[in-house]
Amino acid sequence: MNDSAPHRRHLAARLAEDSALSSPWLRAAVEEVPRELFLRPGVFLDDGGLWRPVTEARTDPADWLTTAYAIDTLTTQLDGHLTADEAKGPVRGVPTSSSTTPATVVGMIEALGLETGQRVLEIGTGTGYSAALMCHHLGEDGVTTVEVDPEVCARADAALEAAGFSTWTVVGDGLLGHPRRAPYDRVIATCAVRRIPHAWVRQTRPGGVILTTLGSWPYGTGLARVTVHEDGTAEGGFIGRSSFMQARAQAVVPVAGDLSARTAYPDSERAVKVPPTVLDEWMPAFLAQLASPGAQFVRAARGDGAPLLYLFDPERESFAEFVADGDGWTVRQGGPVALWDAVERALGAWRAAGTPDITSVRLHVSGTRHTYRIGDDPALRWEHHLA
Ligand SMILES: C[S@@+](CC[C@H](N)C(=O)[O-])C[C@H]1O[C@@H](n2cnc3c(N)ncnc32)[C@H](O)[C@@H]1O
Repeated sequence: MNDSAPHRRHLAARLAEDSALSSPWLRAAVEEVPRELFLRPGVFLDDGGLWRPVTEARTDPADWLTTAYAIDTLTTQLDGHLTADEAKGPVRGVPTSSSTTPATVVGMIEALGLETGQRVLEIGTGTGYSAALMCHHLGEDGVTTVEVDPEVCARADAALEAAGFSTWTVVGDGLLGHPRRAPYDRVIATCAVRRIPHAWVRQTRPGGVILTTLGSWPYGTGLARVTVHEDGTAEGGFIGRSSFMQARAQAVVPVAGDLSARTAYPDSERAVKVPPTVLDEWMPAFLAQLASPGAQFVRAARGDGAPLLYLFDPERESFAEFVADGDGWTVRQGGPVALWDAVERALGAWRAAGTPDITSVRLHVSGTRHTYRIGDDPALRWEHHLA
């Protein structure tokens, strides 16, 4: 077996150069934990729309290590079941488990502000690599990691053992946390959630920190860091952009099928003030999710090729349909919630405030609601009620 130590040292040096890695203990962990152990039996590499399987067993050892130490996210499972050793050749599929790029993994661990002796709950074990980096510092008793997929969890557990960590690897829905080992000082989610489950807040010690990607779109999502208070609420804000696969139990079922049936009964029609194409940009997409939570952005085309764009909120039976109209767009809205009115109000207020970035967004979490705000402008304040 080739020694991966030079690859590990090189990876750590690159992450430090790129400022993703600064803590000496985390650098030591990256230099000592072999990432390749966590990629067995193999990975899928993006090959122009198809996923090409690359397995340890069928790859030259030196090439395998080069793949394993790429600063890339390496997909390890497609469609909730397929692993690289089972695929005969390049395949289509949707990634459902991966080893997140080390730049993101170490960046998130740095943002947790871990201290010796603390106890961490990780949601989304995946390959187990991020859990191993934390175990390296906190010890195997300091880390509890929850994975929803039993086979993914079993592979991660075996890899953690092979790396020398008999850690607490639990199969379950991480949205419930893991009460048996609570309280935790830190909760870190390496999957995205639509809202922070109150179970996580309850299981975090006052003064403890929860770090998670929030949002339901594949982009336009942010990394939220909140501190838990004595009264069972949590408060903080967004520390940057972030994109992760959705937590399975909260994953949105994409709107598909006959879109015209969903837009058959508009209540209003007008010219837009803001073109819907702004939703291709990260921050407007983020604000749209705050202003119209539950809405999905859907792209389609008319028979003649003209673009059609939609916002659909299936739960609230509401829609906004955008039709290209010469140089502009017409919006038809239907259902109890005027989705685009809410998004346009948010975008207008955000522009008037000078287009502040995601780090200006504050978040307060209680058992009944999430409150998001930018400054004190009531037009830049959104309450998402659970009850
Ligand atoms: C991006 S991967 C995690 C990356 C991992 N931390 C690593 O570095 O290897 C996300 C993982 O979250 C898991 N997951 C999705 N929904 C979950 C849930 N509700 N509870 C626990 N795990 C979940 C997926 O099965 C997947 O393995």
